[in-house]
Amino acid sequence: MVFPMDVALDSFDFPDSRLDPQVAHRLRDLSLLVSLPQISLRLIDLIGDPNTSVRELRDVVEMDPALTAKVISLANSTYYAVRVPVKTVERAITIIGYQELGLMSLGMGLTETFNVSAGPRGFDSESLWIHSLAVSWLGQRLALQVKTVEPGEAMIAGLLHELGLIVLVSKFPLIFQKLLDLILAGQIGLEAESALMIRHELVGFELACMWKLPKIYLEAILYHHQPEKAKENKAIVALTSLADILANKIGFGLQTEVLEADPDYILQTIGLSPVDLQAFIRQTILASKDVLPLWRQMLRATAPAAAASKSRFSSLKSEAPGP
Ligand SMILES: [Fe+2]
Ligand SMILES: [Fe+2]
Repeated sequence: MVFPMDVALDSFDFPDSRLDPQVAHRLRDLSLLVSLPQISLRLIDLIGDPNTSVRELRDVVEMDPALTAKVISLANSTYYAVRVPVKTVERAITIIGYQELGLMSLGMGLTETFNVSAGPRGFDSESLWIHSLAVSWLGQRLALQVKTVEPGEAMIAGLLHELGLIVLVSKFPLIFQKLLDLILAGQIGLEAESALMIRHELVGFELACMWKLPKIYLEAILYHHQPEKAKENKAIVALTSLADILANKIGFGLQTEVLEADPDYILQTIGLSPVDLQAFIRQTILASKDVLPLWRQMLRATAPAAAASKSRFSSLKSEAPGP
């Protein structure tokens, strides 16, 4: 594995730790070219912290004029049905909610950094971001219910849990195409990844390590398919795993994934009874129909900016396609 020097190897336990040497090498190059923008790193801190003030969040969003325009446009979208047009970030925060607006901002930054529409033909790239947003949204709702996990942290973990797939699709499209071919031929997603030595949990983890993300997110990324392996952040990893399973159940799944986590372990770890889970699923199915158009709108708002590359988020160079 290509762990950075400051991450202790023995503090993680991932059974299939082989990574294609070419991918590992290029990931290291990529981490030098594609650093996570300062705004995104700051947003990760702010969203995860329940004591964040509206002013702190406003100041960060306003550092980027393109982002400011997008969040104001989002607050004026039909989803929120405001009577008086929203003209400031501060008001947009009161309409959208500070954690939600922070997450949308982070999501918009990431979708610009990783243009998944450059991925292989035949792969529904929008579904990858919709899935990530759905897991983030479900994670927050679960966290609010179980109270063993900070909702803001659950949102970030959900948004980032498929970082590896996002990297593979956007930066290694030829390798990802090989993966799709194996899956189309009948192989199970994670097994096909192991065969190609590109387990997406590992790819996302490597990049997140190089970005020096907090350990809570490193574990959520690495163990979202094997939550029982988490050591220090068991509850948030289990909750992200459950949000991932539920996203698949309610129609926001990924064609490349087959989930294998143990539901009994997850429910015990986060403190949710099977009866409460059923009630949660019923409420969530109803609510998800309302929120989907908002996610689509957010992704559409990002697409032209990604092409124009004007925002600070896009001050990042793209890597050439895979070998
Ligand atoms: Fe995954
Ligand atoms: Fe997932």
